[in-house]
Amino acid sequence: MPRFSLTTPIYYVNARPHLGHAYTTIVGDAFARWHRLNGDDVHFLTGTDEHGLKIQQAADAAGVSPQAFTDSIAPLFADAWTRLDISYDDFIRTTEERHKRGVARLLQACYEAGDIELDTYSGLYCVACEAYFTEEELEGGNCPVHKRPVERVEEENWFFRLSRFADRLLDWYAKHPGCITPSYRMNEVTSFIKQGLRDFSISRKSLAWGIPIPWDPEQVTYVWFDALANYITAVGYGNDDGAFVRNWPVSVHLIGKDIIRFHCIYWPAMLMSAGIEPPQHWAVGGWLLVGGEKMSKTTGNVVDPLDLIDDFGVDGFRYYVLSDTQYGNDGDFTYEGLVSRYNSDLANNLGNLAARVATVVQKKCNGVGTAPRADSPLSDIARQAVADSTAAWNSFQPAKALEATWSLIHATNAFLENHEPWKAEPSAELNGIMGDALEALRIVAILCVPAMPRTAQILWQRIGLDGDVSAHRLPNSVSWGQYPAGHGVEKGNPLFPRKSL
Ligand code: MSP
Repeated sequence: MPRFSLTTPIYYVNARPHLGHAYTTIVGDAFARWHRLNGDDVHFLTGTDEHGLKIQQAADAAGVSPQAFTDSIAPLFADAWTRLDISYDDFIRTTEERHKRGVARLLQACYEAGDIELDTYSGLYCVACEAYFTEEELEGGNCPVHKRPVERVEEENWFFRLSRFADRLLDWYAKHPGCITPSYRMNEVTSFIKQGLRDFSISRKSLAWGIPIPWDPEQVTYVWFDALANYITAVGYGNDDGAFVRNWPVSVHLIGKDIIRFHCIYWPAMLMSAGIEPPQHWAVGGWLLVGGEKMSKTTGNVVDPLDLIDDFGVDGFRYYVLSDTQYGNDGDFTYEGLVSRYNSDLANNLGNLAARVATVVQKKCNGVGTAPRADSPLSDIARQAVADSTAAWNSFQPAKALEATWSLIHATNAFLENHEPWKAEPSAELNGIMGDALEALRIVAILCVPAMPRTAQILWQRIGLDGDVSAHRLPNSVSWGQYPAGHGVEKGNPLFPRKSL
């Protein structure tokens, strides 16, 4: 079984999960489900980033210890993912022992390789980013991401000698073209490396909330060095070497565009220093903006994904998030956009198709599904929809994959409008037409598994099929002509009741 492993970023637990976190996680879940549907041995990792100054400050503000604070917030992420049907295989918290052991091992390996040395640093630090900036990178004296003042920080710290890795990184990227997508992100990374890399501090003296440096317990590990290591500590590094060998390198890291440098420069260099293979792929996503701004607690424009699933259902929300933005570009969340996409694609197209097929089968075929025809005009359209959605899922394009799936839904609705089976008398031809429509719905149900697992299962049952839709493996399951005649077809409640603004 081919192995496919993927990760989301691990989220800061300074506040409850918001739409931006849900976005990246739902995209990851859809890819994980797509690969399972194809028979891959999937490992989907997510988790929480719990150390560092930002968390320490949030805990101070709440008047509790950082451990108690993170213990109260981390479960909110796990619960939100459960409610959003996120099928993660592992959830790592950076305060877990397995992670601390792995981080200590990684630090030691880089230290022994001679890539960690003591130095003094004075720099401009943004706590919200947990990162240093140069004067030139600031905008009007403020952090370019959070638009708020940075602090001057000076300390004697341990430094990772990133400057030594420029050529090795460039060589590696030259040998692995296409490993960062979209491709303009690869250009961004390589041109950044070519400008010369600066060493970065990997420890903090003034902070207690972190993982101690093994050979200098007065200092704790810089939160980004700690956090990046989650990708290996979760799969055995520092704990179970056999598991680590089986599970690394990871197939793909999903990351937001704001954390490219950490993931595509720091991280592979840290791994190279420790003698570990870099990741195979980085799929970089844009932001889901709200009113044109990045959502953050600091900006105060936070949308809670759990409020939306109360109104639109888990699948209505998942579908919107996956279909409305081309992964890689920025999207703009609006309530109006959500209502309009829900009504047009889900209520009027998919929901309507399922309802009208069931109605006609009930009225004209005694409620029993009929067989599709081998030479149906829908068969080529279905084949194309499968090919296009396969290519799109495999290249990290959920919106395109759903567009391809919807092309079959549109074509099936048009096919029915053309034949108007609701006006016809029962006949062999009518049975064929309805069999074709049922077969199209069967294929649609399978193709909907990654984005809308609940809907896929309901649809599957309504057209009279048994068992778990997600247990049917591509590509065989989606070849035309397999809908079995003779099963009861059910209309049920509307799959997606229309919403008004
Ligand atoms: N803890 C670090 C990541 C460490 S990974 C080793 C972090 N956490 S975060 O919670 O601030 O953000 C995590 C990811 O969520 C980032 O990729 C970020 O781009 C993404 N998003 C946060 N807000 C977002 C939006 N509004 N829209 C889309 N993604 C956003 O960075």
